[in-house]
Amino acid sequence: MLSDAVAVLRCPVCHTALSLKEDPRRILVCDEGHVFDAARQGYFNLLTGKGTAFEADSAEMVAARHRFLAAGHYDTLSAEIARLAAVSLQSPGAVVLDAGTGTGHYLRAVLEKFPASAVGLDISKFALRRAARLNPEAANIVWDIWRPLPMAEKSVDAVMVVFAPRNPAEFARVLRPGGTLIVVTPRPGHLAEIASRTGMLAIEEGKAERLADTMGKHFDSTTSAEMDFALELSGQEVADLAFMGPAGHHLKPGQLAGVAENSGTVATTAKFQISVFNAPPATS
Ligand SMILES: C[S@@+](CC[C@H](N)C(=O)[O-])C[C@H]1O[C@@H](n2cnc3c(N)ncnc32)[C@H](O)[C@@H]1O
Ligand SMILES: [Zn+2]
Repeated sequence: MLSDAVAVLRCPVCHTALSLKEDPRRILVCDEGHVFDAARQGYFNLLTGKGTAFEADSAEMVAARHRFLAAGHYDTLSAEIARLAAVSLQSPGAVVLDAGTGTGHYLRAVLEKFPASAVGLDISKFALRRAARLNPEAANIVWDIWRPLPMAEKSVDAVMVVFAPRNPAEFARVLRPGGTLIVVTPRPGHLAEIASRTGMLAIEEGKAERLADTMGKHFDSTTSAEMDFALELSGQEVADLAFMGPAGHHLKPGQLAGVAENSGTVATTAKFQISVFNAPPATS
């Protein structure tokens, strides 16, 4: 339930607990009286002060991501994320954080398996409009992952980060002892067959090692697995894939029209790294 998810949130101004009020309008209000109105679609914006310089994903990028993911091309990946989250989310009252939730697609897959309380953070309000529709039981919050998270210490059982920025110190702070952090990243060669013709950015070598290094300072053990699968995509799907990722910030709508209108199918391979980190157990 949304109110259970709200219980782990903290006011970004004074850090006291937030609670949900639905009458006469949906708001979050803290113990000191700071009030955050819900957007019409149900998400909340907790980013106060001047906006961040970060360029959030646009409405067009979010629409492309939604179309592509809803077609089920990455369902093998969603199923694996839900399987890995199971360790931490089986007990009643469990809480999951989806950092960089985007359209909420992977969080939905997890919530279909476990009725956990859920928080979805993303800097793009266009993404959160979709996420709030898909996951109305989650607290969907506009937030910048590089800032201290507006969440209580040791309040979360599992954090998932799927192709989104990572703030290891903050993930370690909000996770309960023994909690699970699941990080999904693309590997070198991901979608290589289509990358060159769509302006997608190549994945650098050595990224997996750097991830393990930065996480190692905050987390106990790590397991890491590679997941590869073949994709057969239409021209429109290739264009959507290019547009939904970081390259979408540089591409103009219509720039991939030639690719989208291609009536044949294109074969390519998705290559992911799925890393699981454990928060240290409680010390007595
Ligand atoms: C490639 S998308 C992945 C979204 C989602 N996890 C998925 O896989 O469908 C990256 C997401 O991270 C969000 N994002 C990027 N930088 C962020 C930041 N500093 N704070 C919060 N969200 C951020 C973007 O708005 C976008 O929704
Ligand atoms: Zn406050």
